[in-house]
Amino acid sequence: MSDAATEMPHADPADETLMQVDDLKVHFPVTEGLLNRQVGSIKAVDGVSFSLRRGETFSLVGESGCGKSTTALAALRMQPVTAGRILFEGVDITHYSQAQMRPIRRRMQMVYQDPFGSLNPRMRVRDIIGEPLVVHGLAGDKVKYKARVRELMALVGLLPDMADRYPHEFSGGQRQRIGIARSLALDPSLLICDEPVSALDVSIQAQVVNLMMDLQEQLGLTYLFIAHDLSVVRHISNRVAVMYLGRIVEIADRDPLFDTPRHPYTEALLAAVPVANPVIEASRPQQIVTGEVPSVRNPPSGCHFHPRCPKVMPECKTETPALRPRDDGRLIACHLYD
Ligand SMILES: Nc1ncnc2c1ncn2[C@@H]1O[C@H](COP(=O)(O)OP(=O)(O)OP(=O)(O)O)[C@@H](O)[C@H]1O
Ligand SMILES: [Mg+2]
Repeated sequence: MSDAATEMPHADPADETLMQVDDLKVHFPVTEGLLNRQVGSIKAVDGVSFSLRRGETFSLVGESGCGKSTTALAALRMQPVTAGRILFEGVDITHYSQAQMRPIRRRMQMVYQDPFGSLNPRMRVRDIIGEPLVVHGLAGDKVKYKARVRELMALVGLLPDMADRYPHEFSGGQRQRIGIARSLALDPSLLICDEPVSALDVSIQAQVVNLMMDLQEQLGLTYLFIAHDLSVVRHISNRVAVMYLGRIVEIADRDPLFDTPRHPYTEALLAAVPVANPVIEASRPQQIVTGEVPSVRNPPSGCHFHPRCPKVMPECKTETPALRPRDDGRLIACHLYD
Protein backbone atom coordinates (compact mmCIF):
# COMPACT_ATOMS: atom_id res chain seq x y z
CA MET A 1 0.00 0.00 0.00
CA SER A 2 2.98 2.30 0.17
CA ASP A 3 3.73 4.72 -2.59
CA ALA A 4 6.59 6.26 -0.67
CA ALA A 5 9.11 5.18 -3.31
CA THR A 6 7.49 7.46 -5.84
CA GLU A 7 7.58 10.32 -3.36
CA MET A 8 11.30 9.90 -2.79
CA PRO A 9 13.02 9.94 -6.16
CA HIS A 10 16.44 9.17 -4.71
CA ALA A 11 15.38 6.04 -2.87
CA ASP A 12 17.10 2.99 -4.28
CA PRO A 13 15.96 -0.26 -2.67
CA ALA A 14 19.08 -1.95 -3.98
CA ASP A 15 21.18 0.32 -1.79
CA GLU A 16 22.25 -1.69 1.22
CA THR A 17 22.27 1.30 3.57
CA LEU A 18 18.86 2.39 4.84
CA MET A 19 20.01 5.14 7.18
CA GLN A 20 23.29 6.88 7.73
CA VAL A 21 24.00 9.14 10.68
CA ASP A 22 27.17 11.26 10.55
CA ASP A 23 28.67 13.09 13.52
CA LEU A 24 25.25 13.69 15.10
CA LYS A 25 25.14 16.15 17.98
CA VAL A 26 22.21 16.97 20.22
CA HIS A 27 23.01 19.55 22.87
CA PHE A 28 20.46 20.84 25.40
CA PRO A 29 20.96 24.30 26.85
CA VAL A 30 21.38 24.56 30.62
CA THR A 31 19.86 27.79 31.88
CA GLU A 32 19.95 29.57 35.19
CA GLY A 33 18.12 32.35 36.98
CA LEU A 34 15.01 34.37 36.20
CA LEU A 35 16.32 35.43 32.82
CA ASN A 36 17.07 31.84 31.80
CA ARG A 37 20.63 32.78 31.03
CA GLN A 38 22.40 29.89 29.29
CA VAL A 39 25.22 28.73 31.51
CA GLY A 40 26.24 25.62 29.65
CA SER A 41 24.97 22.70 27.63
CA ILE A 42 24.22 19.05 28.08
CA LYS A 43 25.93 17.19 25.28
CA ALA A 44 23.43 14.32 25.29
CA VAL A 45 24.66 13.14 21.89
CA ASP A 46 28.12 14.33 20.99
CA GLY A 47 29.36 13.17 17.61
CA VAL A 48 27.61 9.87 16.96
CA SER A 49 28.02 8.10 13.60
CA PHE A 50 26.53 4.81 12.45
CA SER A 51 24.66 3.34 9.53
CA LEU A 52 21.76 0.93 9.34
CA ARG A 53 21.85 -1.81 6.73
CA ARG A 54 18.55 -2.87 5.22
CA GLY A 55 16.98 -5.77 7.09
CA GLU A 56 19.33 -5.75 10.07
CA THR A 57 18.81 -5.17 13.78
CA PHE A 58 21.26 -2.58 15.05
CA SER A 59 21.21 -2.09 18.81
CA LEU A 60 22.28 0.80 21.00
CA VAL A 61 23.38 -0.17 24.50
CA GLY A 62 24.88 1.69 27.43
CA GLU A 63 24.06 2.94 30.89
CA SER A 64 21.05 5.09 31.63
CA GLY A 65 21.48 8.67 30.40
CA CYS A 66 24.20 7.87 27.83
CA GLY A 67 22.03 9.25 25.01
CA LYS A 68 20.37 6.22 23.39
CA SER A 69 16.83 7.60 23.22
CA THR A 70 18.02 11.07 22.21
CA THR A 71 20.07 9.55 19.37
CA ALA A 72 17.05 7.59 18.14
CA LEU A 73 14.66 10.53 18.38
CA ALA A 74 17.09 12.85 16.59
CA ALA A 75 17.61 10.30 13.81
CA LEU A 76 13.82 10.35 13.32
CA ARG A 77 13.88 14.16 13.40
CA MET A 78 11.61 14.07 16.46
CA GLN A 79 14.28 15.88 18.42
CA PRO A 80 16.09 19.01 17.19
CA VAL A 81 19.54 18.25 15.79
CA THR A 82 22.40 20.52 16.89
CA ALA A 83 24.85 19.33 14.22
CA GLY A 84 25.57 16.42 11.93
CA ARG A 85 23.83 14.75 9.02
CA ILE A 86 21.07 12.16 8.65
CA LEU A 87 20.52 10.31 5.39
CA PHE A 88 17.43 8.14 5.03
CA GLU A 89 17.06 6.00 1.90
CA GLY A 90 19.78 8.11 0.31
CA VAL A 91 18.09 11.44 1.04
CA ASP A 92 19.58 14.06 3.36
CA ILE A 93 16.71 14.77 5.77
CA THR A 94 18.75 16.73 8.34
CA HIS A 95 17.13 20.03 7.50
CA TYR A 96 13.78 18.84 6.18
CA SER A 97 10.75 20.85 7.30
CA GLN A 98 7.94 19.05 9.13
CA ALA A 99 5.97 19.13 5.86
CA GLN A 100 8.85 17.53 3.99
CA MET A 101 9.17 14.93 6.76
CA ARG A 102 5.53 13.86 6.46
CA PRO A 103 5.93 11.25 3.70
CA ILE A 104 9.17 10.08 5.33
CA ARG A 105 7.53 9.62 8.75
CA ARG A 106 5.47 6.87 7.23
CA ARG A 107 8.64 4.93 6.50
CA MET A 108 10.12 5.24 10.02
CA GLN A 109 8.01 4.40 13.04
CA MET A 110 8.58 4.15 16.79
CA VAL A 111 7.73 1.24 19.07
CA TYR A 112 7.62 2.47 22.67
CA GLN A 113 8.06 0.77 26.01
CA ASP A 114 4.55 1.80 27.03
CA PRO A 115 2.49 2.04 23.85
CA PHE A 116 -0.56 3.40 25.68
CA GLY A 117 1.07 6.03 27.81
CA SER A 118 -0.17 8.76 25.50
CA LEU A 119 -3.31 7.13 24.12
CA ASN A 120 -6.91 7.60 25.08
CA PRO A 121 -7.97 4.54 27.11
CA ARG A 122 -11.48 4.99 25.70
CA MET A 123 -10.29 4.32 22.16
CA ARG A 124 -11.12 0.94 20.71
CA VAL A 125 -8.20 -1.22 19.62
CA ARG A 126 -9.32 -0.83 16.00
CA ASP A 127 -8.85 2.93 16.18
CA ILE A 128 -5.59 2.70 18.09
CA ILE A 129 -4.15 0.52 15.35
CA GLY A 130 -5.82 2.41 12.50
CA GLU A 131 -5.17 5.97 13.70
CA PRO A 132 -1.94 6.44 11.68
CA LEU A 133 -3.90 5.52 8.53
CA VAL A 134 -6.46 8.21 9.35
CA VAL A 135 -3.80 10.80 10.19
CA HIS A 136 -2.07 10.20 6.86
CA GLY A 137 -5.32 10.12 4.89
CA LEU A 138 -4.87 6.47 3.95
CA ALA A 139 -7.82 4.92 5.77
CA GLY A 140 -10.00 4.60 2.66
CA ASP A 141 -13.63 3.61 3.13
CA LYS A 142 -14.90 1.83 6.22
CA VAL A 143 -14.65 -1.64 4.69
CA LYS A 144 -11.08 -1.10 3.54
CA TYR A 145 -10.10 0.39 6.90
CA LYS A 146 -11.57 -2.49 8.90
CA ALA A 147 -9.93 -5.02 6.61
CA ARG A 148 -6.52 -3.39 7.02
CA VAL A 149 -6.85 -3.37 10.82
CA ARG A 150 -7.86 -7.05 10.78
CA GLU A 151 -4.83 -7.79 8.61
CA LEU A 152 -2.52 -5.94 11.03
CA MET A 153 -4.00 -7.71 14.06
CA ALA A 154 -3.51 -11.11 12.46
CA LEU A 155 0.04 -10.15 11.56
CA VAL A 156 0.97 -9.60 15.22
CA GLY A 157 -0.89 -12.67 16.49
CA LEU A 158 -4.05 -10.99 17.83
CA LEU A 159 -7.54 -12.26 17.10
CA PRO A 160 -9.08 -9.76 14.63
CA ASP A 161 -12.43 -10.24 16.36
CA MET A 162 -11.06 -8.35 19.34
CA ALA A 163 -10.89 -5.06 17.41
CA ASP A 164 -13.89 -3.57 19.23
CA ARG A 165 -12.36 -4.02 22.66
CA TYR A 166 -10.53 -1.48 24.80
CA PRO A 167 -6.84 -1.58 25.80
CA HIS A 168 -7.53 -2.43 29.46
CA GLU A 169 -9.06 -5.72 28.35
CA PHE A 170 -5.67 -6.89 27.08
CA SER A 171 -2.60 -8.26 28.87
CA GLY A 172 0.75 -6.43 28.77
CA GLY A 173 2.09 -8.66 26.00
CA GLN A 174 -1.08 -8.24 23.94
CA ARG A 175 -0.93 -4.49 24.42
CA GLN A 176 2.61 -4.41 23.08
CA ARG A 177 1.37 -6.42 20.08
CA ILE A 178 -1.27 -3.71 19.55
CA GLY A 179 1.50 -1.09 19.70
CA ILE A 180 3.52 -3.01 17.13
CA ALA A 181 0.47 -3.39 14.84
CA ARG A 182 -0.08 0.37 15.06
CA SER A 183 3.55 1.05 14.15
CA LEU A 184 3.24 -1.26 11.12
CA ALA A 185 0.03 0.35 9.82
CA LEU A 186 1.85 2.65 7.39
CA ASP A 187 4.15 -0.03 5.98
CA PRO A 188 7.41 1.40 7.37
CA SER A 189 10.88 0.21 6.42
CA LEU A 190 12.47 1.24 9.74
CA LEU A 191 11.21 0.59 13.27
CA ILE A 192 12.88 2.34 16.16
CA CYS A 193 12.25 0.19 19.20
CA ASP A 194 13.05 1.96 22.48
CA GLU A 195 12.93 -0.60 25.30
CA PRO A 196 10.01 -2.41 23.62
CA VAL A 197 9.89 -5.32 26.06
CA SER A 198 11.36 -3.97 29.29
CA ALA A 199 7.96 -3.28 30.85
CA LEU A 200 6.81 -6.87 30.24
CA ASP A 201 7.09 -9.97 32.40
CA VAL A 202 10.20 -11.93 31.55
CA SER A 203 8.08 -14.87 30.36
CA ILE A 204 6.28 -12.60 27.88
CA GLN A 205 9.40 -10.78 26.68
CA ALA A 206 10.65 -13.72 24.63
CA GLN A 207 7.30 -14.06 22.83
CA VAL A 208 7.30 -10.41 21.83
CA VAL A 209 10.97 -10.48 20.80
CA ASN A 210 10.34 -13.57 18.70
CA LEU A 211 7.30 -11.91 17.11
CA MET A 212 9.49 -8.92 16.23
CA MET A 213 12.08 -11.21 14.65
CA ASP A 214 9.38 -13.00 12.61
CA LEU A 215 7.91 -9.71 11.44
CA GLN A 216 11.34 -8.48 10.47
CA GLU A 217 11.89 -11.45 8.22
CA GLN A 218 8.38 -11.41 6.78
CA LEU A 219 8.29 -7.67 6.05
CA GLY A 220 11.99 -6.96 5.46
CA LEU A 221 12.07 -4.47 8.33
CA THR A 222 15.16 -2.75 9.68
CA TYR A 223 15.32 -2.27 13.46
CA LEU A 224 17.14 0.32 15.51
CA PHE A 225 16.81 -1.39 18.87
CA ILE A 226 17.41 -0.01 22.35
CA ALA A 227 17.37 -2.20 25.45
CA HIS A 228 18.96 -2.41 28.85
CA ASP A 229 18.71 -6.17 28.95
CA LEU A 230 21.83 -7.42 27.20
CA SER A 231 20.51 -10.96 26.83
CA VAL A 232 17.61 -9.56 24.76
CA VAL A 233 20.11 -7.50 22.74
CA ARG A 234 22.25 -10.56 22.15
CA HIS A 235 19.24 -12.54 20.99
CA ILE A 236 17.87 -10.03 18.48
CA SER A 237 20.83 -8.02 17.15
CA ASN A 238 23.03 -8.35 14.10
CA ARG A 239 25.27 -5.49 15.19
CA VAL A 240 25.64 -3.58 18.42
CA ALA A 241 26.88 -0.07 19.23
CA VAL A 242 28.01 0.67 22.77
CA MET A 243 27.47 4.24 23.98
CA TYR A 244 29.14 6.05 26.84
CA LEU A 245 28.24 9.64 27.80
CA GLY A 246 26.96 10.74 24.42
CA ARG A 247 29.51 8.93 22.26
CA ILE A 248 29.80 5.53 20.62
CA VAL A 249 32.86 3.67 21.90
CA GLU A 250 32.54 0.42 19.93
CA ILE A 251 30.49 -1.01 17.05
CA ALA A 252 30.80 -4.69 16.20
CA ASP A 253 28.89 -7.70 14.98
CA ARG A 254 26.90 -9.29 17.76
CA ASP A 255 29.00 -12.39 18.51
CA PRO A 256 32.45 -10.79 18.43
CA LEU A 257 31.15 -7.97 20.60
CA PHE A 258 29.75 -10.26 23.27
CA ASP A 259 32.49 -12.91 23.07
CA THR A 260 35.52 -10.64 22.83
CA PRO A 261 34.65 -7.07 23.76
CA ARG A 262 37.62 -4.83 22.96
CA HIS A 263 36.85 -1.37 24.30
CA PRO A 264 37.51 -1.36 28.06
CA TYR A 265 34.03 0.06 28.65
CA THR A 266 32.38 -2.67 26.56
CA GLU A 267 34.34 -5.21 28.64
CA ALA A 268 33.10 -3.62 31.84
CA LEU A 269 29.51 -3.43 30.66
CA LEU A 270 29.48 -7.09 29.67
CA ALA A 271 31.44 -8.39 32.63
CA ALA A 272 28.30 -8.44 34.74
CA VAL A 273 26.34 -10.53 32.21
CA PRO A 274 26.87 -14.29 32.40
CA VAL A 275 27.57 -16.13 29.13
CA ALA A 276 25.93 -19.49 28.36
CA ASN A 277 29.11 -21.04 26.94
CA PRO A 278 31.27 -22.10 29.95
CA VAL A 279 34.50 -22.07 27.92
CA ILE A 280 34.00 -18.46 26.92
CA GLU A 281 32.70 -17.60 30.37
CA ALA A 282 35.87 -18.96 32.00
CA SER A 283 38.17 -17.03 29.66
CA ARG A 284 36.42 -13.71 30.02
CA PRO A 285 37.83 -10.99 32.20
CA GLN A 286 35.65 -10.62 35.25
CA GLN A 287 36.75 -7.20 36.37
CA ILE A 288 34.02 -4.65 36.79
CA VAL A 289 34.86 -0.99 36.60
CA THR A 290 34.49 1.05 39.70
CA GLY A 291 33.76 4.69 40.18
CA GLU A 292 30.66 6.71 39.54
CA VAL A 293 29.30 7.41 36.10
CA PRO A 294 30.26 11.03 35.48
CA SER A 295 27.50 13.38 34.38
CA VAL A 296 26.96 14.44 30.76
CA ARG A 297 26.64 17.93 32.22
CA ASN A 298 30.30 17.89 33.05
CA PRO A 299 31.99 15.04 31.20
CA PRO A 300 35.69 14.19 31.70
CA SER A 301 38.21 15.54 29.20
CA GLY A 302 39.70 13.39 26.42
CA CYS A 303 38.16 9.94 26.46
CA HIS A 304 35.05 10.28 28.64
CA PHE A 305 35.74 6.85 30.14
CA HIS A 306 39.31 7.58 31.29
CA PRO A 307 38.59 8.17 35.02
CA ARG A 308 37.07 4.69 35.30
CA CYS A 309 39.27 2.87 32.80
CA PRO A 310 41.61 0.18 34.17
CA LYS A 311 43.86 0.61 31.10
CA VAL A 312 44.07 4.41 31.13
CA MET A 313 47.14 5.99 29.46
CA PRO A 314 48.34 9.64 29.60
CA GLU A 315 46.89 10.61 26.20
CA CYS A 316 43.43 9.39 27.24
CA LYS A 317 43.11 12.40 29.54
CA THR A 318 43.69 14.95 26.81
CA GLU A 319 42.85 13.45 23.43
CA THR A 320 39.41 12.25 22.37
CA PRO A 321 39.86 8.92 20.59
CA ALA A 322 38.12 8.70 17.19
CA LEU A 323 35.77 5.84 16.37
CA ARG A 324 37.87 4.10 13.74
CA PRO A 325 37.84 0.78 11.86
CA ARG A 326 40.32 -1.67 13.37
CA ASP A 327 42.02 -4.72 11.86
CA ASP A 328 39.19 -7.12 12.77
CA GLY A 329 36.59 -4.96 11.02
CA ARG A 330 35.01 -3.48 14.09
CA LEU A 331 34.96 0.19 15.01
CA ILE A 332 36.59 1.18 18.29
CA ALA A 333 37.23 4.57 19.87
CA CYS A 334 40.21 3.83 22.12
CA HIS A 335 43.88 4.88 22.18
CA LEU A 336 44.88 1.32 23.11
CA TYR A 337 44.28 0.35 19.50
CA ASP A 338 45.85 3.40 17.81
N1 LIG B 1 14.74 17.44 26.66
C1 LIG B 1 15.85 17.37 27.38
N2 LIG B 1 16.36 18.45 28.01
C2 LIG B 1 17.50 18.39 28.73
N3 LIG B 1 18.22 17.26 28.88
C3 LIG B 1 17.77 16.15 28.30
C4 LIG B 1 16.56 16.13 27.53
N4 LIG B 1 16.36 14.85 27.06
C5 LIG B 1 17.38 14.13 27.54
N5 LIG B 1 18.23 14.89 28.28
C6 LIG B 1 19.48 14.45 28.92
O1 LIG B 1 20.29 13.88 27.92
C7 LIG B 1 20.98 12.75 28.41
C8 LIG B 1 20.67 11.54 27.55
O2 LIG B 1 19.32 11.16 27.78
P1 LIG B 1 18.64 9.91 27.03
O3 LIG B 1 17.23 9.87 27.46
O4 LIG B 1 18.93 9.98 25.58
O5 LIG B 1 19.45 8.68 27.66
P2 LIG B 1 19.16 7.11 27.51
O6 LIG B 1 20.48 6.48 27.14
O7 LIG B 1 18.01 6.89 26.61
O8 LIG B 1 18.80 6.70 29.02
P3 LIG B 1 17.81 5.57 29.55
O9 LIG B 1 18.56 4.28 29.41
O10 LIG B 1 17.61 5.94 30.99
O11 LIG B 1 16.55 5.63 28.75
C9 LIG B 1 20.57 12.60 29.86
O12 LIG B 1 21.53 13.22 30.66
C10 LIG B 1 19.26 13.34 29.93
O13 LIG B 1 19.05 13.84 31.22
MG1 LIG C 1 16.13 6.06 26.91
